[in-house]
Amino acid sequence: MGDGAFRIGLPNAQATHGLGIRLGQLCPPGTVLLLSGDLGSGKTTLVQGIGAGLGIAEPISSPTFTLINEYLEGRMPLYHVDLYRLDPDQIGSLELESYGDAKEIEPGLLAIEWSERMLQPPRSAIRLRLEAITSGGRLATLTAVGEEHTALLKEVIGDGLLADEI
Ligand SMILES: Nc1ncnc2c1ncn2[C@@H]1O[C@H](COP(=O)(O)OP(=O)(O)OP(=O)(O)O)[C@@H](O)[C@H]1O
Ligand SMILES: [Mg+2]
Repeated sequence: MGDGAFRIGLPNAQATHGLGIRLGQLCPPGTVLLLSGDLGSGKTTLVQGIGAGLGIAEPISSPTFTLINEYLEGRMPLYHVDLYRLDPDQIGSLELESYGDAKEIEPGLLAIEWSERMLQPPRSAIRLRLEAITSGGRLATLTAVGEEHTALLKEVIGDGLLADEI
């Protein structure tokens, strides 16, 4: 068995959306998803899939005026952050590494675009990196940070999707 890392080919945007749906359906409250990958690699598309998987009808777009977009109508809250335009001080002030530990925040799924910009990433999370491949599709690498996440990723990838454990 590998160290809880998987690679999945995503031939088109629908496949990215579909992976998001699986994550939205299966992640427990309190899950942190650390998204990384170049501009236009499909991070927001994946979060839109997560919204669909959680049962959120409201359209999901990247946070621009608010730092964290909250969607509260689904199975659990979706908190969506995009660190691309934020400076290190703003990123620090969000306290994302302990987000959800605060009692006033209902546990949900925290999806962080451009998470590679965090200086202190959370200790327990799922990392998901998207890369463009020459076919025009994307390669997703999912890494479990923490034991419980390995089992979760196996379930997410489980049926239908072609994946390599690495
Ligand atoms: N697996 C895929 N294959 C081909 N195109 C894809 C795939 N997944 C997403 N796309 C397309 O890539 C484009 C960019 O997607 P998206 O906006 O989700 O990227 P992003 O990573 O959020 O970008 P940014 O870095 O600007 O936030 C969209 O047109 C989307 O449909
Ligand atoms: Mg985006």
